[in-house]
This record gives sequence, structure tokens and C-alpha cells, in this order.
Amino acid sequence: MAQKDIGNKVPLHTLKKTEDVMKFYDDWGKENKYDKDMSDWNYTGPKETSEVFNKYANDKEIKIYDAGCGTGLVGVELKRYGFKNFYGADLSQNLLDLVPNGLYHLLEKADLNKKINHEDNKFDAVMCVGTFTYAHVKPPALDEFIRITKNKGLICFTINEGIHEEYGFDKKLKELCDTNKCKKLEFFKSQYLASKEVNAWLGLYEVMK
Ligand SMILES: C[S@@+](CC[C@H](N)C(=O)[O-])C[C@H]1O[C@@H](n2cnc3c(N)ncnc32)[C@H](O)[C@@H]1O
Repeated sequence: MAQKDIGNKVPLHTLKKTEDVMKFYDDWGKENKYDKDMSDWNYTGPKETSEVFNKYANDKEIKIYDAGCGTGLVGVELKRYGFKNFYGADLSQNLLDLVPNGLYHLLEKADLNKKINHEDNKFDAVMCVGTFTYAHVKPPALDEFIRITKNKGLICFTINEGIHEEYGFDKKLKELCDTNKCKKLEFFKSQYLASKEVNAWLGLYEVMK
């Protein structure tokens, strides 16, 4: 592969441990660089997921858990549609500190590869955008998303195309559907970060309990 191609990639695949990922994002947040890069690179993940989510979620008052919320780009997009009740969690305190004041009802530092610190059926929906990617959050987090979401609630997420099969997201989603834990409403290849030659699967599933 030409060096030019490698240079164009965001080097997420080089990260190995959770601490590396945390440091990577803590550094990326400095001087608001993360948000600037996302804007310059025309990162469309938050916009694309919010648009699909809005088609299925009619009640604007619903409680939405934003898993891996970063600087709150998903909250910003959902707010355009009138949603307002956001609970955010992320590994990087520096990114959490950049979330616009008052946009989220609650923000907490959390490792989503561990049990989520909320009770069963607390939320109407979970959004998880950009967080299923190299060395980030693994497929068992989907069990936790379903646990904290109410019956008939929604989970909406992106999966970086490069890890969908490699990390077993394909098998996990099949298992969850085969065992009637959730039902697929949408699943398609989205633009996501096309300027960096990275696309992602975009999924929207209804929780069944
Ligand atoms: C590509 S960013 C996406 C952030 C935001 N959702 C967006 O669309 O701008 C990935 C996010 O996942 C978070 N993250 C990575 N690993 C995590 C983990 N194990 N637990 C919680 N958050 C994690 C990072 O800190 C980062 O904010």
C-alpha cells in the first residue's frame, strides 16, 4: 500500500490497550482539535445516525444514553430534531469537558467494556457512534446496551467496516436477533468518514424483552 494511503488514515488500528485509547483521545481533545478535525474531515457519523434515529423515534422526551459521547456531537445533531434528554458516557475526561454546557443531563467517565453503571430498562434508547472501532468498545457492550434499554426501545450505532467481522460484531448481532433480544430495523453501509476512506455499518435495532 502506498505511504500516502497509510498517512491518510486515523491511526486507531495502532492502539492496543484501553489506556492507550484514553490517552489518544485526551490528547486529541487539546485545543479543541478533535472537533476541528471532525469538521474539516466532514465526519458524518452523528448526522447520519441522528437522521435514521429520528425516523423511528417519535417522542422527543425520551431518555437517550450516548455511549462514547466524546465531545457531544451526537447530542448536538439530535437536538436539531428536538430531542433533549441525553446521558453521556466516555473514557476520555478531556473530551467530556468539551461537551457544550447544559446539553447533556448527565456526563460520566466510564469504560464501556465493563458493566454500565445504570439499572435495567432505564433508557428509551442508546446511541453509540464512532465507538465500535479498533481497540475501542467490543461486541459484549451490545448486551449491556440492551439491558439498560426498555422493551421496544432503540439502539442505534455505527461499526467501523474494518472490524465488523474481525471483532465478531456480525456474529453477535446475528445471535441477538436469533435469540429475540432485538430486531433489525436498519443496517446499511454509511458514509461516516469517507474523506479518510473509512466507512461504517449503521445499525438501528429495536429491543425485545
Ligand atoms: C470516534 S470517537 C466518537 C465520539 C462521538 N460519539 C462522536 O461521534 O464524535 C470514539 C469515542 O469512543 C470513546 N471510547 C473509546 N473506548 C472507550 C471505552 N472503552 N469506553 C468508553 N468510551 C470509549 C473515545 O474516548 C471517543 O470519545
